[in-house]
Amino acid sequence: MAILEFIVVALTLASVNTERVRNYRMCPNSDCLIYDMFIDPCPEALYNKACGWPRNSNTTVAFIYNPEFSAYSPKTQLYSETFLVDWPFLNIDTNACLYTNCPVQKDTEQYWLFNLFVPEYYETTYHIVKFVLTDTISNQQCCFTFDINII
Ligand SMILES: *[C@@H]1O[C@H](CO)[C@@H](O)[C@H](O)[C@H]1NC(C)=O
Repeated sequence: MAILEFIVVALTLASVNTERVRNYRMCPNSDCLIYDMFIDPCPEALYNKACGWPRNSNTTVAFIYNPEFSAYSPKTQLYSETFLVDWPFLNIDTNACLYTNCPVQKDTEQYWLFNLFVPEYYETTYHIVKFVLTDTISNQQCCFTFDINII
């Protein structure tokens, strides 16, 4: 995504329900930095609470990342993190090039934009969502978690 496109998206997102999210956590093995995360809807972010995502609706997650690795065919996945195992959200296309410019470039600030649909069949419950971007060659990862409530 070009920088202009990102700015347009960010401005569009500057609606009542979009907030800057600060209470995300990097994974211990993460090879990247994350900045300027905006989630729509997430009015709860003002109080550092989990974003409430209604079922059967669209949500947006946008941020800037700076990876310590390059990747020509990067993969991505979102998981619901639990104590024992991470459950993948199965309706996510794992081709990371759909959400960011490819190739992913080492030591460079880049933009990420997810438009995510929350299906009706999701259980209304709290999730720790884990974002993972992986270089399939080196297995280096960009990884962080954030909190949502499916409502
Ligand atoms: C979600 O977004 C898709 C693609 O833009 C659109 O076709 C669909 O109508 C939206 N669904 C809702 C419930 O807003």
